[in-house]
Amino acid sequence: MSDVLRVHGGRPLHGRIKVRGAKNFVPKAMVAALLGNGPSVLRNVPLIRDVDVVSNLLRLHGVKVDFDHEAGTLTMDPTNVESGQVSEIDALAGSSRIPILLCGPLLHRLGEAFIPDLGGCNIGGRPIDFHLNSLRAFGATIEKLSSGIRITAPNGLVGTQIELPYPSVGATEQTLLAAVNARGLTELRGAAVEPEIMDLVSVLQKMGAIISVDTDRTIRIEGVDELYGYRHTALSDRIEAASWASAALATKGDIFVAGAHQPDMTTFLNVYRKIGGAFDVFDDGIRFWHPGGDLKAIMMETNVHPGLMTDWQQPLVVALTQAHGLSIVHETVYENRFGFTEALRKMGTNIQLYRECLGSLQCRFAQKNYEHSAVIFGPTPLHGADIVIPDLRGGFSHLIAALAAEGTSTVSGVDTISRGYEHFKQKLRQLHADFEEID
Ligand code: EPU
Repeated sequence: MSDVLRVHGGRPLHGRIKVRGAKNFVPKAMVAALLGNGPSVLRNVPLIRDVDVVSNLLRLHGVKVDFDHEAGTLTMDPTNVESGQVSEIDALAGSSRIPILLCGPLLHRLGEAFIPDLGGCNIGGRPIDFHLNSLRAFGATIEKLSSGIRITAPNGLVGTQIELPYPSVGATEQTLLAAVNARGLTELRGAAVEPEIMDLVSVLQKMGAIISVDTDRTIRIEGVDELYGYRHTALSDRIEAASWASAALATKGDIFVAGAHQPDMTTFLNVYRKIGGAFDVFDDGIRFWHPGGDLKAIMMETNVHPGLMTDWQQPLVVALTQAHGLSIVHETVYENRFGFTEALRKMGTNIQLYRECLGSLQCRFAQKNYEHSAVIFGPTPLHGADIVIPDLRGGFSHLIAALAAEGTSTVSGVDTISRGYEHFKQKLRQLHADFEEID
């Protein structure tokens, strides 16, 4: 598979593609399967690298995993869970952030877990302090090794009270996966409530867990002794859907995204409409298109759910380079998520970065040395360039820019995109993109 694409841009993308289950949900549901006393079946699973990585991690721990790619059905049997070989677990390090979520289930099943140094996209420091503090609160002991972290809880985990300093998606999932089998009640305050987390709550409830979610970001979990296998259909990937929607806007195209689900995308759809994009919601998906005329500059600010997802920011920025006027984007979730704009500048955009909070919120990064606000002066014609993909969402945004730009671009490192976008080259062909793979 070629890692470099030569893209001939300036043509509207048009046609129909389908998105399947969410990259930021499916691996977590796979981890939850470890907690069952029998097999679990997950449907609507996309063929992306993160699913491969977690399948291999589960196999290393004795789970039998079968994946019917065509049907998107994953069957996981955790009957014979065992400790993985440290060296083998370590070999998977660097490719995903999911291993940290195995802690709770492995502590319940085996009394110990080994977590290698974590990978994932380079979009900020991405510490795991909330995760480790949560595990400590349940009674786990944490030992730092040169190759990772060893966590033990020979006497089991005990329900506890946790308050997250920030509504972290991963730390909320960590706490849920540890609490469902812990002894007694756990109260988690300041939890993240993203739709992907609510779908994980649904999975755990199907398995026999008792979980209640309050409107004030408090989640209460009553620990139970035994959990069962589940059958579940993963919610749709709202980040992928928004990425194709942004591609339709930036290339003046028209894309029907089968599987796009309006209730999970309300905030995105509001922003899309304010910029001047058009959409029409159908039972089986959403049609997104550029209705002609000028796109409008806007002010937007990323935030935790129900705010504007940080993962929508990068593709939307590409569309905003074609809007008339001055757009302001304030990134409040990650301190370092504008690295991708460097390549956009090479393609002719006028984007300036600022350390100040250029929004209504003073965020956690105020008075710190992070360029986390952007001002985009538009519209600027985009021209082809040689670009190297920095991370997953930034990478897809580079691809959108190359497809919108006049002339030819060479985009290197596209393999990164396969981490989270199923069959993206095939989908580009379905949308009549003009590109070739080069060696
Ligand atoms: N944070 C800490 N300490 C922690 C955990 C998080 O300071 O222990 C900070 C992070 O540094 C960040 C903020 O809290 O500034 C939010 O991080 P969060 O824990 O919510 O992110 P995550 O669970 O690591 C998931 C998605 C990301 C998505 C974020 C926010 C997965 C595998 N990843 O990451 O997705 O951006 O939630 O919604 O679910 C992507 O898909 O490209 C991606 C990066």
